[in-house]
Amino acid sequence: MGSEVPPVYIGLKGIYVAKTSLSYIDGERGKLIYRGYSIEDLAEHSTFEEITYLLWFGKLPNKRELSEFKENLASEREIPDEVISIISKLPRNAHPMDILKTGVASLGPFDPDLPSIWGQHIHEKRAENLKIAMRILSKMPTIMAYFYRMKENKDIVHPRKDLNHAANFLYMMWGREPNDLEAKLMDVALILHADHGFNASTFACLVTASTLSDLYSAIVSGISALKGPLHGGANEQALRMLMEIGSPDNAREYVKGKLERKERIMGFGHRVYKAYDPRARILKKYAEMLAKETKQEKLFNTALEVEKVMIELLGRKGIFPNVDFYSGQVYHMLGIPTEIFTPIFAISRASGWIGHVLEYWEQNVLIRPRALYIGPMEAKYIPIENRI
Ligand code: ACO
Repeated sequence: MGSEVPPVYIGLKGIYVAKTSLSYIDGERGKLIYRGYSIEDLAEHSTFEEITYLLWFGKLPNKRELSEFKENLASEREIPDEVISIISKLPRNAHPMDILKTGVASLGPFDPDLPSIWGQHIHEKRAENLKIAMRILSKMPTIMAYFYRMKENKDIVHPRKDLNHAANFLYMMWGREPNDLEAKLMDVALILHADHGFNASTFACLVTASTLSDLYSAIVSGISALKGPLHGGANEQALRMLMEIGSPDNAREYVKGKLERKERIMGFGHRVYKAYDPRARILKKYAEMLAKETKQEKLFNTALEVEKVMIELLGRKGIFPNVDFYSGQVYHMLGIPTEIFTPIFAISRASGWIGHVLEYWEQNVLIRPRALYIGPMEAKYIPIENRI
């Protein structure tokens, strides 16, 4: 090693490692756009299928393109019987993210197109990769809904082709069609979580894809990274915390106690946003609406109080609610069990993961950084019998 010590970017904070046209975050002003379109506009006017088309193909689809895309996605929802059987044998108390990971990993060997494109040129086979992409995206909700029904000792509910992605997921989970508000809220949640620059799970997907591994393997890497509480797992934890606080009156003492013990308040802070997360702002509006409709104002008011105290104490450091703070509440008010929150995030983010892999593969470069070695240089090997 030379005498000059290279800079080390632990956690890659603020480091640009690729170029992308998929999404842009303005962390200072709290703005998010997908290919130029504001997240506010997309949440209000678009659908999950449409924004997925936007992320994968680079433009909003016309009527014919959208209806073909939706049809193709809807026809790929069922999963092979062998994968259903694998899911049915997994422990019911396993974390659903582990089920999702196993489910997606199990789909790979059954894909009819994978063997023919496997090899050094896999990244150049866009048409085949798009077919695989649609299968993964369409089947992820089915894996989750089937496992949930099995866990509840209920018969699985097969997917329907006439419902959109969001409504079909709720239908498979509940065994009944969601009403318009429920379906819209799920769709909005999927739109909001679909992409977010080079977050940890997207980066994990790209590390795997950059070796010219396949899309299934890349998505399994993304699911694995998203499981952690510093990333996708925060929405579960944020809701559990609100339940523990119980009422707005307890919020101040609870938050102060946690901060004094140097513990983190889940659902707050973000590596990029140093202002209010725009996705949290959109979901907060829906959370308020749902709270009134489902008579769960106490939960929403507790959240408001936690937010108020946190901004008072940490706002100057750029700590504000992130999307996970309000998504957990919205899912809970919709009647979705807590352990399914992070899988819903994954079901949505798969759209962005795939979009980024397809984009990165257009000019693939192996991702292989270095670590600065700080260990000893010339240790002498000691036979085991001489070691203390
Ligand atoms: N609660 C209390 N303090 C916090 C929080 C929080 N949620 N987040 C950051 N801080 C404090 C840190 O203690 C640190 O304080 P210090 O400067 O006195 O040491 C300072 O703010 C900066 O925090 P870092 O961890 O260095 O910031 P980083 O950008 O690495 O962290 C992260 C971002 C990991 C998301 C962090 O804010 C966190 O742990 N939040 C809670 C988990 C969470 O909600 N994750 C979801 C993220 S959004 C998503 O994945 C969809």
